[in-house]
Amino acid sequence: MKVALTGLPGAGKSMVGRLLAQELDVPFLDLDDEVSREAGSEVAGLIDRLGLDAFRTLEHRILTRVSGEHDGLLALGGGSLDDPRNAQLLREWRVIWLRPSLTTLVRRLSGDDSRPLLRGNLAARLDDINLRRRPIFSRVAEAAFDAEAEAEAVARQVGRYLQEVEWVGPGVLWGRGSRHHLARFAPGRAGVVIAGPIARHWGGEIGRVLPDVPLRSFDDHEDKKTLDSVRALYAWAAEQAFDRTTTVFAVGGGVTLDVAGFLAATYLRGLPLIDVPTTLLAAVDAGIGGKVGVDLAEGKNLVGAFHMPRLTVVDPEFWASLTPAVLADAMAEIVKAALLEGDAALEALEEMAWPATPEDLEPVARRALSVKMTIVAADPKEEAERTYLNLGHTIGHALEQATGYQMSHGHAVAVGLCAILRYGAPQGRADGLVRRVEQLLLRFGLPIDTDVPPDQLMQPMGLDKKRSDGGKRLVLLQRPGHPYLAAATDQDLRRLAEEAGRP
Ligand SMILES: NC(=O)c1ccc[n+]([C@@H]2O[C@H](COP(=O)([O-])OP(=O)(O)OC[C@H]3O[C@@H](n4cnc5c(N)ncnc54)[C@H](O)[C@@H]3O)[C@@H](O)[C@H]2O)c1
Ligand SMILES: [Zn+2]
Repeated sequence: MKVALTGLPGAGKSMVGRLLAQELDVPFLDLDDEVSREAGSEVAGLIDRLGLDAFRTLEHRILTRVSGEHDGLLALGGGSLDDPRNAQLLREWRVIWLRPSLTTLVRRLSGDDSRPLLRGNLAARLDDINLRRRPIFSRVAEAAFDAEAEAEAVARQVGRYLQEVEWVGPGVLWGRGSRHHLARFAPGRAGVVIAGPIARHWGGEIGRVLPDVPLRSFDDHEDKKTLDSVRALYAWAAEQAFDRTTTVFAVGGGVTLDVAGFLAATYLRGLPLIDVPTTLLAAVDAGIGGKVGVDLAEGKNLVGAFHMPRLTVVDPEFWASLTPAVLADAMAEIVKAALLEGDAALEALEEMAWPATPEDLEPVARRALSVKMTIVAADPKEEAERTYLNLGHTIGHALEQATGYQMSHGHAVAVGLCAILRYGAPQGRADGLVRRVEQLLLRFGLPIDTDVPPDQLMQPMGLDKKRSDGGKRLVLLQRPGHPYLAAATDQDLRRLAEEAGRP
C-alpha cells in the first residue's frame, strides 16, 4: 500500500499519518524527517540556510528514493507538491489531502515560529499559500478530508475510506458503495450530469452525497448523443456560472459519459471530469481511456476529443438495477478483453456462473478494465496498440450501421468477434478457439452470426473511420493474448463479411 498525505502546514499530516499507519499496520515515513536526517539539520534551519530552491532540490532527490522504496504511509512536506516532478513521482500513490479550514490552521499554528514560510502575518501567509496550492492539491490528490476533528478521528475516517474504496491504478477507484464518497473527490465547485434512469433509481442518494452541487438529468437514449444535447448542457453550465475549476461528475452509462465528457472537454476549453459509470459496459470500457464525443447524422462518434477523467469511480452496486439485456450486452466487450488478455482470462469467464450476480461479475469486470487500462496507458491516442481494442469491431460497426442501429453494440460485437476468429482460423482446420468463444457468447445470450447479407456489410466497412493511409486494417488474433494488425483488401473484407453469416 502506498498512501501519501498532503495538505497545508498544520493540517495534521504527520500526526494523522502515524496513527493511520498504526491502524493499517504498515510502516510510516515523514518526508521532512527524511530530509532532516539526510541533511543533518532541522527543516526550518535548512530552508533558512540553503534557500528554498536548494531545499526543494534536496527534497525532490529524497522523494525520488522514498517513493520507489517505501511501501506504507508517507507524510509529505507542505510544499512537496509545488514541484511538478514530485506529483509525477507519486503517480502510483494514493494521495490524500487533509484540508482543515484556515481558521483551524491559524489556531493550531499560532505561537509556532519554527516554520520559515509562515513568518509574519500568519493568517495572510496561510491564505496566500492556500490560494497557490489548492489547485495543485485538487489535481494531484485522490480524495480530500476536512480534517477538523482530532487526529485519531481523522485517521479512522481515512482508514475506513481506504478500505472501502480500492485503488485499481492511476485515476481508477473501485468499491461497493464508493458512490457515498463522491464529495471527497471534488471538494471545490462541481456539477453533476446524470442519466434519467439513474436519476430515478439513484438520484436521491447522489443528491444527498453531493448536497450543494447542481444536478442535471440527461436523456440518455443513444439518439440523444448529439451536439444538441451538448448545447443544452453548455447553457446549463453557463447558467450555473461554471468556471475552469468546476468539476463535472458524469453519472450514467456510456452515452452519458460520452456526452458529459464532451461537455467537460470543451466548455471553457476543458474542465476536470470525474466519471461514475453505472453500467457494466461503461465500467470496463467507456469510463476508461478518455474518449468522449457525440454522434452525427453522418455516423456514430464522429465528433469528439480525448479528455482523460481525473478519476473514474466504479461502484458495482449500480449494476443491480440493470436489465438482463444491458448486462448481457456488456459481456461481448468482456469476452473481447479476455481474448486480448489471454487464456486464463477466458477460463475465468467460462467458470463464471450465468446468470451472474454483481459479486460474480466483479472479478471478471476488474480484469477487463485492467486490460483496457494497460492498453490505453501504453498508447493513449490510439496510434498503435490501442487499435487492438477494436477486435471484432469491423463487422460490429458494419452490423450496427446496416441495421440502422437496431442491433445493440454488444450483439454486433459478439458476431464481429466470431467472424474475425473464423476469418483468422487456419484454413481447413477446425479451430478450438472459435468454438470456445461461440459457446461462451451463446451462454451469455449473445448471437454468434447474422442473416444480414455480406453485400450489406461491405459498404459500411468501407466507410469505417478506423482506417489509416486509405487502407483498411484488421485486428486479428494469433492466439488469446496475442493480437496483431493486418492489412485487408476488399476481397479480404468480403470473406470476413461472409464469415459473419449463418453457416
Ligand atoms: N468512450 C468510449 O470509450 C466508449 C466505449 C464504449 C462504449 N461507448 C459508448 O457507450 C454507449 C453504450 O454504453 P452503455 O452500454 O453503458 O449504454 P447506455 O449509456 O445507453 O446505457 C444503457 C441503458 O441502461 C440504462 N442505465 C444505465 N445505468 C443504469 C443503472 N445503473 N440502472 C438502470 N439502468 C441503467 C441507461 O439509461 C440506458 O437506457 C455507446 O454510445 C457507445 O458508443 C463509449
Ligand atoms: Zn465496443
